[in-house]
Amino acid sequence: MARWRNLVGVAVATLTAAAMGATASPASAAPVGTGDGVVPTTNVVGGTRATQGEFPFMVRLSMGCGGALYSSTIVLTAAHCVGATGTNTSITATLGVVDLQSTSKITRKSNYVYRAPGYNGSGKDWALIRLASPVTGLAFLPLATTTTYDTGNFTIAGWGAATEGGSQQRYLLKATVPFVSDATCNSSAMYNGEVIASNEICAGYAAGGTDTCQGDSGGPMFRTGASGLVQVGIVSWGDGCARPNKPGVYTQVSYFASTIAAAATSLGG
Ligand code: ARG
Repeated sequence: MARWRNLVGVAVATLTAAAMGATASPASAAPVGTGDGVVPTTNVVGGTRATQGEFPFMVRLSMGCGGALYSSTIVLTAAHCVGATGTNTSITATLGVVDLQSTSKITRKSNYVYRAPGYNGSGKDWALIRLASPVTGLAFLPLATTTTYDTGNFTIAGWGAATEGGSQQRYLLKATVPFVSDATCNSSAMYNGEVIASNEICAGYAAGGTDTCQGDSGGPMFRTGASGLVQVGIVSWGDGCARPNKPGVYTQVSYFASTIAAAATSLGG
């Protein structure tokens, strides 16, 4: 089923990102069209380039996932991006830049991973990564703590594939996608009951064309709240990318907000 097909896809994306390493060549990492400074919207799953500083909380993780800066030492990502809870010094987080090859990028090693209790590949797709030392000068992305903002239009962003099966991106891309109700998302035309209505939230166009994709996992989906941006979703899964009638499926942050906050506190951040 789609959920599992996609989780296999994650592993492929991870290998690709790892193979790129820190010295990825611009030829393989840069999106098509960078030569003239124009990014064609047709090859970025409907996205465009984010500007430097536009989303200061965006984090790129070395296993090939995204994340959001929750506090000066905590990154919120997806459970399917990490291993089990415990000491983990193997992850590198890159922050503060839209260009992953920028000389002004901030990098931090992880020192601990906290994966959602009971995570088994179905729902509960969230995890925290603790950074070995705090970052300064970057805004955090607060969680949506109620369902108030679980509707409307959302912003998605990431360095993942710009097309289904495509390569990881050097520059951060962003797009807007509309909320899709659980009833619609679980209809026979879409995911036919595969979406866990209580703790997953769908977003995308019935016509397709705009979506997150492999390598965007763990990154935030967000919108304007009462005072600034709030995180309503975590990139989790989908059937392919940007296909018609296959919206992106995101962890519903409001459902887990108090648990995530308590876990972050327990990690000291
Ligand atoms: N699981 C994917 C990843 O690891 C993200 C999939 C999102 N897919 C989608 N169609 N919205 O990067």
